This record gives sequence, C-alpha cells and structure tokens, in this order.
Amino acid sequence: MNREEILKALQEVHYPGLERSIVDLKVVESVTEENGKPIVTLSMQNDEAFEVLESRLDALFGGEVEIRRKASTQKKSINYGDTANPNNRAPYAKKVIAVTSGKGGVGKSTVSVNLAVALAQKGFAVGLLDADVYGPNIPRMTRTAHETLRWNENDRIVPSENFGIKIMSVGLTTPAPDTPLVWRSSVAVSALIQFLEDVEWGELDFLVIDMPPGTGDIQLTMAQELPIAAGVIVTTPQPVALDDVSRAIMMFKDINVPIGGLVENMSFFIAPDTKKRYDIFGEGGGEATAQKYGIPFLGKIPLDMQIRAFSDEGTPPVAMGDKEQKGYYKRIVDNLLAQIL
Ligand SMILES: Nc1ncnc2c1ncn2[C@@H]1O[C@H](COP(=O)(O)OP(=O)(O)OP(=O)(O)O)[C@@H](O)[C@H]1O
Ligand SMILES: [Mg+2]
Repeated sequence: MNREEILKALQEVHYPGLERSIVDLKVVESVTEENGKPIVTLSMQNDEAFEVLESRLDALFGGEVEIRRKASTQKKSINYGDTANPNNRAPYAKKVIAVTSGKGGVGKSTVSVNLAVALAQKGFAVGLLDADVYGPNIPRMTRTAHETLRWNENDRIVPSENFGIKIMSVGLTTPAPDTPLVWRSSVAVSALIQFLEDVEWGELDFLVIDMPPGTGDIQLTMAQELPIAAGVIVTTPQPVALDDVSRAIMMFKDINVPIGGLVENMSFFIAPDTKKRYDIFGEGGGEATAQKYGIPFLGKIPLDMQIRAFSDEGTPPVAMGDKEQKGYYKRIVDNLLAQIL
C-alpha cells in the first residue's frame, strides 16, 4: 500500500465514540516508511482509545502497516486525581452540581434538566452535561436529540443550546438517538473528560451533571476530576428506593463530595381530573432519610402525568408547565442555592 492509499483508508476511521475521522481530528500524526514497511503514527493521550484504534487499524490493514503512538504533550494526560484533592477539568465553571441517585429511573435526568433551566431563569450561565453515556436522555428532554455535533474554528466542540442552557451529551454524537453504545467504562470516562475539556462551554456559573444510575466508575471519576460543589441526590419515597439512597449518600461522604441535599421525586400523585392528592407511598420518607443522614431536604415533586409528558416531549416543566409545576423545581433550586451560595 502506498501513502495515499493508507491516508484514504484512515480518512474512513472514526475516533472511538465520535463520528469523526481520525484524520480530520489530527490524530494521525504522520504516515511514513521504514525498511519498506509503512508506519502510521497516531498522536493521542488516551490509552484506551489508542488500544481500540490500534486493533481496528491492524484489522483494517491486515498487519501490513505498523501502528505507532506519539503521546502529545499539549494536553493533560488522563492522570486521575484523588477525591480529597480533585483535579479541576472545568475551571470555566464557578460551581459544579452533580445529580445522582442510588437507583435508576427515579428522575435524575428530569431533575437535572429542570434544575439547570431554573438556574438559567434566575439569570445564571448554566451548562448541562449528560454523564449518562449508556442511556443519554438529556437530548430528548431538551429537544436537542436531532442536532449533530459541530466544531468551531479552534476545533472545540460547540454545545447545543435550548431553554437558555448549554447542553452536551454523548447522545448528540451518535447519528440516531437510539444508537447503542458498547463502551468499556474507561472509554466512557475519557469521552466525558473530553466533554469537560474540549467543549466550548464559555464561562459558566453552574455546570450541572446528570449522572448515570448507581455508584460506579463514572461517579468516582467525576469526583476525582472536578471539585463538586454539591451532590444532589434524587430518590423516590418507597422504602426500597430509600435503602438504595443511603448507598449514594455514603459514597459521597466517603469520597468527600459535599451533599447539597436530597430531592424526593414522584412523592405523591395528583389525579389529573380531580386534582386530588394521593400519598401512594406514605408521607415523609424522604425527609426522614435526609434527617437520618444529616443532609438537607431540598423538596419534593409529585408524580404528575404532565411532568412526564413535558419531559418526554422535550419541554421542561419548569419552563413550560403551570405555576404549580414550576414551583416544585423553583423551590428546590432556592433551597439548593441557600446551601451553596
Ligand atoms: N415527577 C414526575 N412525574 C411523572 N413522571 C416523571 C416524574 N419525574 C420523572 N418522570 C418520568 O419518569 C421517567 C424516568 O425519569 P428520568 O429519566 O428523569 O429518571 P433517571 O433517574 O434519570 O433514569 P435513569 O436512571 O434511567 O437515568 C421519565 O419518563 C420521566 O419523564
Ligand atoms: Mg437519567
């Protein structure tokens, strides 16, 4: 194979997790030759991504081309900090808020979106990062699902914008919202670090991060790479959910992340026809749990069919809902600001 043929083949190879050619991203440092054997040198930081690319290229060229790596020195390497003294990959953000839960499906993404929009409504500059790389819901919830990734002239990723907030999600990097991502967690983590470092967020008052469910690698990395000002823990009021929430609280405490407080979602049911309130799961579970662990209780949000519909249609209830629906989120934001400002 000659140099042109190799370059042409490389043009079709995407960086792991991105829909962009490694040639366009300037990851291909050079195509040279030694003793008749072609050599492709890649300039990249990320060990995991390099391994992925190396094996893809070996398969592509059937071993005919040697793949080398030159570690570039321009960027910080992925050198994880410790949570007691975290790195700061987002110096452009005055405060980072991480929204988590012990359990999946309790409303983290809904709370993240509405919290971010409510902060913007107060005049703050807000970014929303969807850290749920395996189930990115933020694009749908903010009506940015069909936007494609853009780069500016400095080769930095331009975040999407809607409802007054800047938005970045792995869901915006894939051709269709339902493209499945099969990443090792280390690749997922490095994609998120790229979102922190290579997205043109501008100056932010708040960076809100919608975490994936549970207490895993991504949560830990975020706590190592960012000085989190407040963890917001979302729960539902059932006793089983409250059991799981204690795990999330413990994790935050263990890794020195200050807890901004607990949000109880789907607390009670408002019948759409009669507006009557039903306390399906009893009352006061969230408050009692917050009290037990000595963390602030930020507020509750009812189980409301319209909240679900608004969220799934990409119109956040705090922006488009009625006065009451807006009020639930606004109260939570006021209580949170009282903790962290
Ligand atoms: N207060 C509410 N009333 C009615 N529906 C709600 C409410 N909060 C969230 N939902 C709906 O419940 C579903 C799950 O919410 P969401 O996606 O925010 O949870 P999650 O904790 O982020 O889930 P995952 O763990 O999968 O990321 C969504 O369809 C959402 O619209
Ligand atoms: Mg979610």
